[in-house]
Amino acid sequence: MNRAETMLVNNRGRAWLQRSYEVPLLQRLGARLAGADVVEIGCGRGVGTELLLERWGVAHVTALDLDPAMVDRARRRLARHGGRVDVRIGDACDLPFGDASIDAVVDFGVIHHVPAWRDAVAETARVLRPGAQFVFEEVTRHALERWSYRTFLEHPEHDRFSAEEFIAELEQHGFVLPEPAVTRFFGDFVIGVAVKPATTPRGPL
Ligand SMILES: C[S@@+](CC[C@H](N)C(=O)[O-])C[C@H]1O[C@@H](n2cnc3c(N)ncnc32)[C@H](O)[C@@H]1O
Repeated sequence: MNRAETMLVNNRGRAWLQRSYEVPLLQRLGARLAGADVVEIGCGRGVGTELLLERWGVAHVTALDLDPAMVDRARRRLARHGGRVDVRIGDACDLPFGDASIDAVVDFGVIHHVPAWRDAVAETARVLRPGAQFVFEEVTRHALERWSYRTFLEHPEHDRFSAEEFIAELEQHGFVLPEPAVTRFFGDFVIGVAVKPATTPRGPL
């Protein structure tokens, strides 16, 4: 992330949006994480992780981020939660977990930053156990093509996804969406909860 985006995400406005809008919306869309062993990819400074622990009542979160500075910030923020949280440097495309070992993966605005974003979806599908949820809030190509995004922020440019393409990729990996994902802000964001079924109807796992 460049300096402008770092300022955009590391501020109280972003925290308010996550707490007051995104979490209640994801709960309405069916996110049920109480007691779960959760992985948050791209945790940033740990606000989402804090909400998982305090609002969602998850049992444990492994919070991963590629950026060591973000990991340091998240560790400081989350220190009071002791053994319920493990904050580490980690890549969404190479998750350090066994197959079918995790109860939920949470993605607050991360996969659109990943050049090989389909690999991140594949990794998520690999580590989730049958019946587990993938809870996501993502930024689409529609947003990334805006003048404001192109001018002030830095994202991979090749092979970005629309909302429909993101959902189609999930379905390729066998995910089902019991509630349809929603788009927000003229299609800039896609938000939803996908479930890995007990048996995969088609496609790779
Ligand atoms: C837009 S920020 C979102 C941060 C936080 N989730 C939030 O909602 O405020 C994207 C974060 O993803 C991290 N990131 C980018 N690529 C990643 C990858 N491949 N694996 C893990 N984290 C990644 C960045 O370092 C950054 O902290």
